[in-house]
Amino acid sequence: MRLFPCLLLVVFCACGSAPSRGGGDDGPDAGGAPPVDDDPLSGLPTGAAQWSAVCARHYGDMISAKFCAGAAPPSLTSLADLEALLGLTVRPNPNNDPTINANVRLTLNGESTGLGVRSVNPILARAFLMTPSPNSAPNASYQVLAFARGEPLVELVANDPAAQTLRFFLVRFHPACESTGCSNGDLQTAAIESGWTGYTLYDDRTIADTTLDCLNCHEPGGPGSKRILRMQELANPWAHWFYPERPDTLQIVQDFLAAHGGESYAGIPSSLVMPSRPAALTQLLQNNGFGTQPNVFDTLKINTELAAGGTSATWTGLYAQALAGQQIPPPYVDNPYDRTKEQAAITAYQQVLSGSLPRAQLPDLRDTFLDSALADMSIRPKPGLDGKGILVQMCQMCHNARLDQTLSRARFNVEQLAQVSRAEKDTAIQRLQLPPADRHAMPPARFHELSAAERQLAIDELMK
Ligand code: HEC
Ligand code: HEC
Repeated sequence: MRLFPCLLLVVFCACGSAPSRGGGDDGPDAGGAPPVDDDPLSGLPTGAAQWSAVCARHYGDMISAKFCAGAAPPSLTSLADLEALLGLTVRPNPNNDPTINANVRLTLNGESTGLGVRSVNPILARAFLMTPSPNSAPNASYQVLAFARGEPLVELVANDPAAQTLRFFLVRFHPACESTGCSNGDLQTAAIESGWTGYTLYDDRTIADTTLDCLNCHEPGGPGSKRILRMQELANPWAHWFYPERPDTLQIVQDFLAAHGGESYAGIPSSLVMPSRPAALTQLLQNNGFGTQPNVFDTLKINTELAAGGTSATWTGLYAQALAGQQIPPPYVDNPYDRTKEQAAITAYQQVLSGSLPRAQLPDLRDTFLDSALADMSIRPKPGLDGKGILVQMCQMCHNARLDQTLSRARFNVEQLAQVSRAEKDTAIQRLQLPPADRHAMPPARFHELSAAERQLAIDELMK
């Protein structure tokens, strides 16, 4: 049964209902044609066993403290439960009472370059709830929760002051629809935020060998280097964030509100979406040592260049870093949305809210990007690249000499393709030919997509 029925073919199987492939690393199964295992976390411990493993590490961060306070995993059946556990509940605050929501700040973005690079948009926005960082001093302790509707995942980070590092966590929860099969409507409406039948708490170490690896982007220098909070656009005017003060970013907020009307989202009351403050996350980063970001998107400079001549040399420089496999892709130079697709998504969502369209018939709201933006977002390769160029842009971000070399994926080091063994190249060719939904398919459909011709160019290069 499929949790993610269409667009991305990124589909998690319900726990226990699909045979696990046993975590094998060697491509397609030999005999028979078992149903495709599409869960990147397949084979890892779950539930109480995984909770015990995380808590046994005795991390010193505030998220571990809350999860590990009792003798059993805390019971969570909704996002609201999780936010309450962490102390990140956002209450309506019609009179701007400073004592309400004193422990939480919030913002949202309409384009993400994290795990949701292909799914976050102004309707399926990525919400961030965080510890306030109002003074220009480091916080003693802080946490951030990130959630976008569409996937049964909540991303978390907290600092561990004693160990002087960041702890990343992933909550994989089980929406009730998993037992029968989830529709877009189950995953992309408020339905996903409650009625959970269970969850597993993963720490970054446990999922390092999966395509959801946090450290790939949050510890970009590899083991032993500094872990970082990320925000590729750090300064006003935050082109891809909910920032109602600017006409261009106001549009993103208005599209969100046109779809969602008065409903709350990610636990944020509708009335508090409008004052979304990207500055709250910027401050948290700057005050805690993350004010210098890799390959940062200088919004003001890029906007000025765009206004002057329709292109931005600054952005082209950022993109060149992603093309060369040196940095994660930057946000799109402008707004990547196709107005027609976006309007259709807003209309369909409104129809579901009003009851004129059954929830089960909601189309996939993720499909709102301009086709012409996909290469610039590095979802697809830049047109005209040769096989080597395709491998660098599509694979090197996760297969390089910086990452933890004890992970088996280090054997496929795109930076030194000439030294990669024949056997490993053959594995890569097999991985390239798997159905995109398969959890072993490369490149992972969560991040990238290749045409048949591009796939063949990559394979031809690997045959050499
Ligand atoms: C492909 C790169 C990438 C991966 C992989 C990734 N992140 Fe991030 N993450 C980002 C970026 C970029 C941001 C900034 C906000 C955005 O673009 O949506 C971010 C933001 C965050 C934030 C908000 C705090 C901050 O750093 O700004 C949290 C929490 C977070 N990520 C947690 C995780 C967790 C947990 C994982 C693993 C399960 C993970 N991330 C995997 C790129 C990544
Ligand atoms: C988002 C990160 C990511 C990207 C992008 C990516 N991979 Fe991977 N790759 C992984 C991870 C994680 C594993 C280990 C888990 C697994 O076996 O699926 C892996 C495993 C592999 C392996 C098996 C390595 C071994 O010996 O265990 C090969 C070969 C491979 N990838 C090839 C590719 C190719 C070819 C591309 C680009 C066309 C690519 N990958 C893009 C994350 C990525």
